[in-house]
Amino acid sequence: MFRNVYTPPGGPPQVRAPQLYTRVGAASLHALAEAHYALLATSTIAPLFPSEEEELKQAAHKQALFWIGITGGPPLYMEKFGHPRMRARHLPFAIDETARAEWLRCMREALGDGSRWDFMESDVQEWMSWLEAFSEWMVNQAPR
Ligand code: HEM
Repeated sequence: MFRNVYTPPGGPPQVRAPQLYTRVGAASLHALAEAHYALLATSTIAPLFPSEEEELKQAAHKQALFWIGITGGPPLYMEKFGHPRMRARHLPFAIDETARAEWLRCMREALGDGSRWDFMESDVQEWMSWLEAFSEWMVNQAPR
């Protein structure tokens, strides 16, 4: 169905992800992605995500591969799926400011004080401010 696509006036993100991979490692980023997706699955934006458990796990896995590459680890996401084109890959899903806020809330909740995922206090700050900026570019739906 046709819908009007909204383009955020700020343009593509000008922010660099915190380079925490070498310290935090793949296992923590995978576990954080799983915790984030478990919360997304029970959030107000759950209908956007796979309802089947195995598919949700796969989606979290993909997310972790992206995080690993962008935080200074091996480019596993790029090798498997090609150029991230993050805004384009989100276009099939109607994402407005409310959805963005909910996605970020789940992230903040999953992250907690960061210690479970081997994040230092400064990592928590940097991770959230990176995602707050980066997620703006994923918004493709004007407020209703
Ligand atoms: C603005 C709030 C956001 C919403 C509502 C949202 C929603 C979604 C949805 C519904 C999918 C498809 C299902 C899935 O594979 O998980 C997806 C995929 C994905 N998202 Fe997001 N997302 C948001 C922000 C972000 C941000 C900030 C990042 C990166 C830091 C990100 C990274 C990804 C990746 C890597 C995928 C997999 C893309 C692929 O199919 O290869 N998303 N997102």
